[in-house]
Amino acid sequence: MSIQYEKLEKCYEYYRSLTDFVPRVGLILGSGLGGYAKNMKVELEIPYSDIPGFPVSTVQGHDGKFLLGYIGNVPAVAMKGRVHYYEGYDMKDVVLPTRLMKRMGIEVLFLTNAAGGINPKFHVGDFMMITDQISSFVPSPLIGENVSELGERFPDMTHIYDEELMRLIEETAREESISLQKGVYLQTTGPNFESPAEIRMYAVLGADAVGMSTSCEAIAARHAGVHVCGISCISNMASGLSDEELSHLDVQAVADKRSGEFERLVTKSIEKM
Ligand code: HPA
Repeated sequence: MSIQYEKLEKCYEYYRSLTDFVPRVGLILGSGLGGYAKNMKVELEIPYSDIPGFPVSTVQGHDGKFLLGYIGNVPAVAMKGRVHYYEGYDMKDVVLPTRLMKRMGIEVLFLTNAAGGINPKFHVGDFMMITDQISSFVPSPLIGENVSELGERFPDMTHIYDEELMRLIEETAREESISLQKGVYLQTTGPNFESPAEIRMYAVLGADAVGMSTSCEAIAARHAGVHVCGISCISNMASGLSDEELSHLDVQAVADKRSGEFERLVTKSIEKM
């Protein structure tokens, strides 16, 4: 057994010592969705700090715990707070929570985040359904010994974002009259925001939005056979695309302002899953 798998199993054993709940959908709550709990019938909360060996986020506004319960009738686990690569964790630890949710039983992973808009047709406050991703600027979470209990050495990444889940999200957005952009998400390491030259490069490469999370979690989930979907809240136009200087506070302020619609889009989509 690999060290990584042993660590995962320890976390899982702790989880099972608390509950026999089996979630079907995992939801990672990005900026703006910190108050998501009110949309769930929460049956159990597990602070990350209680789980042996679990990485604990150090970012302000990302206090960490699992929320277990129901979104509509769907058994779900939500992560209030995620760990980021820029905090200094190894990529394997950044995706440990994703793998733990797979061990809990999830079949679907719903990723959310705040991101900088690169596509000039986007506006601050838009939602972008992620259709594909570029993770070439961060290390793969699959580097190192393969956790063969989870997945194969060389997993295919042709369809990271699930066609059927995307159709569901689009349908939900239409029904709820929430306008929805679509595009490619590019993950950087952070924590610095990008330079304008970097953003011009990412635009040439085909990115529509940029952020500091998500792609690595999507890779770990696909490796383990979990179906993935994701939505970004465009909290700012990326560096050089507006006159504004970028700040974490502004990112959070926009994401918070859009939280009502974001919560509705996510909840109504998951209720159908
Ligand atoms: N760049 C990187 N990450 C981000 C941004 C951005 O402009 N906005 C929100 N997260």
